[in-house]
Amino acid sequence: MARILITGGAGFIGSHTCVVLIEAGHDLLVFDSYINSSPIALKRVCKITGISAIEVNQRIQIIKGDISNKSNLDEIFKKAKEEKREIQAVIHFAGLKSVNESIKRPLAYWDTNVNGTANLLLTMESYECKRFIFSSSATIYGKPKSIPIVETEKINPINPYGNTKATVEKILLDLSRSDAEWCIASLRYFNPVGAHPSGLIGEDPNGEPNNLFPIVSKVAIGHKDILEVFGGDWPTKDKTCIRDYIHVMDLAEGHLEALNYLLRKKSEFLTLNLGSGKGHSVLEVVKSFEDTIGEKINYKIVGRRPGDTAKTIADPTQAKKILGWETRRTILDMCSDSWAWQTANPNGYKTGTT
Ligand code: NAD
Ligand code: WQD
Repeated sequence: MARILITGGAGFIGSHTCVVLIEAGHDLLVFDSYINSSPIALKRVCKITGISAIEVNQRIQIIKGDISNKSNLDEIFKKAKEEKREIQAVIHFAGLKSVNESIKRPLAYWDTNVNGTANLLLTMESYECKRFIFSSSATIYGKPKSIPIVETEKINPINPYGNTKATVEKILLDLSRSDAEWCIASLRYFNPVGAHPSGLIGEDPNGEPNNLFPIVSKVAIGHKDILEVFGGDWPTKDKTCIRDYIHVMDLAEGHLEALNYLLRKKSEFLTLNLGSGKGHSVLEVVKSFEDTIGEKINYKIVGRRPGDTAKTIADPTQAKKILGWETRRTILDMCSDSWAWQTANPNGYKTGTT
């Protein structure tokens, strides 16, 4: 079992990955600024995994800090070295992730997502820690030419957020070419949704949500009047957009497999799609949600959202071939687990305690 640094570990995907890694026996250092998350998420991770107060610092050490601050990062590696409990790998979730916001605040996105990642890699290099998993995104494919999307598809981001992810992928390629000791996996997520089945952790976006699942959940619970379906004239079977939704627990398990794979390697550079290979339209998501809650979801079809594409579906063949990983959970699992989280935490972590 290994000691792993998880940046952004209190966030949506990070917190679920913490659960899976702890359950698999790994010891974690979780580093987060909480700019888009809550420390309560990590208390819930301990609750789900049954970590007692005595075990806390051994199994999951929680550190508040910012990847933009190099001395914050240096302290972690320095302390681990002094304690002779070196960090064997880093899973890097920390970053800003809103496409809309990135168009309005590109400098903040370049600074956190690119400069912050460079700070982390420089620190890792100076402590000879060379195993790295990066949260990349299907957004870097832009408007892909062929569906399902294979990893060799042209990288063609169409917004500042996507540009930052594509840039980090280039940095990682240069790094692996410069030094064969690096073992790197760049994981391109499709549309992560759902929650841990306990309903204790889930997605808790700051401010107004932009993504489909949190919005459908808000309409279902009555915090929002209506879902606006963006476009009813797409070239798809029911004329609404199709996406490859992936349950966050499947995604978390993908990280465990990628980590275990890199820990066995002496040199590696992997780029993998993490998706289900299946597409669901917006109206199919609405229908699955209605089946889950036993009520109708109020929606109306409006104009297309700028930047959307008709269809995005992963070809996940490489992840299956290399990691032996594939998704197991269905769209109904995604809806019912999202609903369990939403009903148990109507205001996210804001009114929660432990
Ligand atoms: P999230 O916002 O829930 O998690 C990111 C975490 O990073 C948060 O806890 C936040 O507080 C932390 N963070 C942000 N800036 C930081 C900084 N400067 N220093 C330290 N911590 C910082 O997002 P998520 O959905 O869990 O996404 C995790 C990663 O996966 C992100 O890099 C995101 O770009 C990427 N990704 C997400 C999706 C998605 O749809 N959720 C899809 C593809 C890729
Ligand atoms: C899904 C579908 C919308 C809201 C985003 C990022 C991407 C990645 C994953 C980080 C689309 C439709 C949505 C609404 C709607 N994140 N929709 N009404 O845009 O596929 O991907 O998250 O890397 O970079 O762009 O996800 O959940 O916003 O939209 O009709 O109110 O739902 O048009 O077809 P998207 P989404």
